[in-house]
Amino acid sequence: MISEQYKKFLSYVIYQVYPRSFNDTNGDGIGDINGVIEKLDYLKELGVNAIWLCPCYKSPNDDNGYDIADYRDIMDEFGTLDDVKRLISEMHKRDMKLIMDLVPNHTSSEHEWFKQSRMSKDNPYSDYYYWFDEPQNDWQSCFCGSAWEYDEQRGQYYLHSYAPSQPDLNWENPKVVKEIQDVVDFWVDLGVDGFRCDVIDQISKDWERNSNCFGPQLHDHIHALFGRDKVRHIFTVGECWAGDIDEIVRHSAYERGELSTLFQFDHLACGCTTKFRKKPESLKSVRDIIANWQTLNQERDLIHALFTDNHDNGRFISRMGNDGELRYESATCLAAMFYLLRGVPFIYQGQEFGLTNSHHDSIDEFDDIESVNIYKYFCENMTPEEAIEKINFGSRDNPRRPMSWTAGKNGGFSDAEPWMPLHSRYKEINLETDRNSEKSVFKFYRDILKIRRENDAILYGDFELVSKKEDGNFIFTRTYEGKRFIVICNFEEEAEISVETNGKIILSNYGRDIVSGTYRPYEVAIIEE
Ligand code: GLC
Ligand code: CA
Repeated sequence: MISEQYKKFLSYVIYQVYPRSFNDTNGDGIGDINGVIEKLDYLKELGVNAIWLCPCYKSPNDDNGYDIADYRDIMDEFGTLDDVKRLISEMHKRDMKLIMDLVPNHTSSEHEWFKQSRMSKDNPYSDYYYWFDEPQNDWQSCFCGSAWEYDEQRGQYYLHSYAPSQPDLNWENPKVVKEIQDVVDFWVDLGVDGFRCDVIDQISKDWERNSNCFGPQLHDHIHALFGRDKVRHIFTVGECWAGDIDEIVRHSAYERGELSTLFQFDHLACGCTTKFRKKPESLKSVRDIIANWQTLNQERDLIHALFTDNHDNGRFISRMGNDGELRYESATCLAAMFYLLRGVPFIYQGQEFGLTNSHHDSIDEFDDIESVNIYKYFCENMTPEEAIEKINFGSRDNPRRPMSWTAGKNGGFSDAEPWMPLHSRYKEINLETDRNSEKSVFKFYRDILKIRRENDAILYGDFELVSKKEDGNFIFTRTYEGKRFIVICNFEEEAEISVETNGKIILSNYGRDIVSGTYRPYEVAIIEE
């Protein structure tokens, strides 16, 4: 049984925009809101009906917008609040939804609340952050170094789970809860349709268990944000790095009024021991992880967030697929593996034309705070060449480079020199070249999304795994009201696959027309019965 609310969400196909690198319309080398508006028809043509816009608020940009100085205003470089209003109205005209990025765990140190808070121990904002005379534990910042910073002005330490310029908000203070509720309401009143909630598992700390996430008040806090009648209808996806299944279920069961769904990262971790080191593991483990999630979500009427790429990881195709000779084949195979499942597809900019990792020889060509900090740390234990290799593999700048729309000047991203170096392969891998190619990843994505949109069996159908553990493939079925689809994705060099069916192949990436037989690497067949 699928609830009506979930049926609505299951029809979403969400495209993640990293605004800084998406499309520059005023020639300053930085992507902007008008640049997103300009590409709405393109996204519509792809088959997308919602956008998750990474933070575009006022920010000093230490963490590219995840350090917010004003939750209710737009970064000058990106445009104005009026531009965002226009974006919303242009999207709604096209029947598209806008999902904003909500960053509730921390602000920028430039935020008015922090400026006030650090002034004294007894001002109205003094308890908006976690202040102590001594560090309370040995928590580490995600961007290297201690998570506690001494502030001269106040003469105390404050907590920052990320950069020192990203102080953690104190959610134990009811005023903070109210402030973020108001931020949510502000954007909902403006017309936005949902939120992606940054590191949501961290807004309650578990001091007793010595953990900076999944604290005892987490559910209450999330419920305070999204369980209210006013916002109950919106779509919310939480970023959640912890993998406790019961927790996940409790967050995303509709009746609890918490989140619509959660990003889970275990399938990203299985290619790498850390984000920066590849592990020789195959797509089989990815299959097992996502198949488990499908079964669990189905049993409990939950929504699976279907994604491979985002702004925080190297490109999935470079981590888990073949980004060289078989780039088209593996890009399309990954699309079939993920986007015909039950859940909400998320596509990260550039993924729809098979963009890979980028390669750079010097750390000077990187911008991201995590990459730059960890590079220094790597260099303490290895040669610069080894360190840069790791950075090239795992850097968050891989997906953050200016979009390659064309093979022309600045990849068609901007008339001016872009804010950061272009992708190293933009002349070869760009939208224009892809669309003119016989093997077009874009066209395959468009076809997959059309199949999804037009078939209830793909939107709502039951999932069943056909492959056995030892098989080097992912074969699954989707069934709904007597109608069935079979999806075959082969991970091996060459494999004999035989499936009993009287159905027809409606899409494949090698031009295949007979279901059973020899499958080539990353070969896909989608069969309708
Ligand atoms: C999330 C964001 C990431 C950011 C961090 C701190 O993980 O996705 O980009 O650096 O939170 O806000
Ligand atoms: Ca611009």
